[in-house]
Amino acid sequence: MSQEDYYQDVREHHLEPLWTIGDWFLSNEPLRVYRPYQWHWSDVYPRLMAAADHMVPGQGGARRVLVYAHPDLTQTLGTTHTLNVAMQMILPGEEAPAHRHTPLAIRFIITGQGASTTVNGERMAMGSGDFLVTPRWAWHDHRHEGEGPMVWMDGLDIPLTRWMGGMFVEPYSASMQEESVPSQQSAKVFGTAGIYPKVSEDFKTANGSLMVYPWEATRKALEAVREVALNPFDGAIVEYRNPRSGGPVLPSLGATMQSLQPRETTKTHRHTSSVAYYVFRGEGCTDIDGQMYDWSQGDVIVIPPWHWHRHRNMSSTQEALLFAINDEPVMQNLGLYREEGLPSERDAD
Ligand SMILES: [Fe+2]
Ligand SMILES: [Fe+2]
Repeated sequence: MSQEDYYQDVREHHLEPLWTIGDWFLSNEPLRVYRPYQWHWSDVYPRLMAAADHMVPGQGGARRVLVYAHPDLTQTLGTTHTLNVAMQMILPGEEAPAHRHTPLAIRFIITGQGASTTVNGERMAMGSGDFLVTPRWAWHDHRHEGEGPMVWMDGLDIPLTRWMGGMFVEPYSASMQEESVPSQQSAKVFGTAGIYPKVSEDFKTANGSLMVYPWEATRKALEAVREVALNPFDGAIVEYRNPRSGGPVLPSLGATMQSLQPRETTKTHRHTSSVAYYVFRGEGCTDIDGQMYDWSQGDVIVIPPWHWHRHRNMSSTQEALLFAINDEPVMQNLGLYREEGLPSERDAD
């Protein structure tokens, strides 16, 4: 059999000779399959507000949400290859009906007050800077009984869930859930860092742990970290964790809040996790593989895996606050997490 006939024959049997496959198959390091990317708040916000003219939650769609669909990831509508960032808006009097799905979700509240999210019968208030958890397959709905538009960022692992073959969605039997447990109960029980409640096995929240992380607690933790434990690559940074397990806030999604002081510049590093940043406060720039991404409040920036990056707060007076979601828990659990500092900066101190 000639070489050519051999290759044709094996391929007809859906076998591929490893020695003919290019380096993409077993590449020396993660391939760059999508670029860093940025969405400006000035592009997003008016379009999110205008969505009120085009849909009402519960009528022709469950949620008034704009998904950040990366132009290199059009097949999945992913923001990174594993995660979605989306911006949700709800108006006074509106209700986003109850449903559940296997993709897990976090909410980071941007503006507005008087809205609440109910997860498995536990109602949680939403205020600017608060961080809320919706575990996999937990019933959830949102309602707004306050004034003005309520805006929050959703973070979900939809691309990962779909790729793993685990996607399920189910509407609730009624429009909205009844409150079946005391409101804010997870915050009351788990809201004190370092003092661990010994709750009974049958204590019920959707994840058996804390589900709403109030801004004041995050703020306080950040300030404490700034005084004593700066991270060279991220400034003052805190991670949202599950206070019962000590593990990540959700099995496939990590979340952080970081603070950069005026003019603070971090060192350069890279890691195999992908990260989507949301600029909560301030303005600055992030250098991703030598390209500068200038950001200001409300922008979203994606750092794909294994891209060198560093952050700089450009203001000489204002602190910058960056909220971020990442897929580090997945990479840690699979033994695929790696992180390294830029070698040329290692001795630069
Ligand atoms: Fe949902
Ligand atoms: Fe990083």
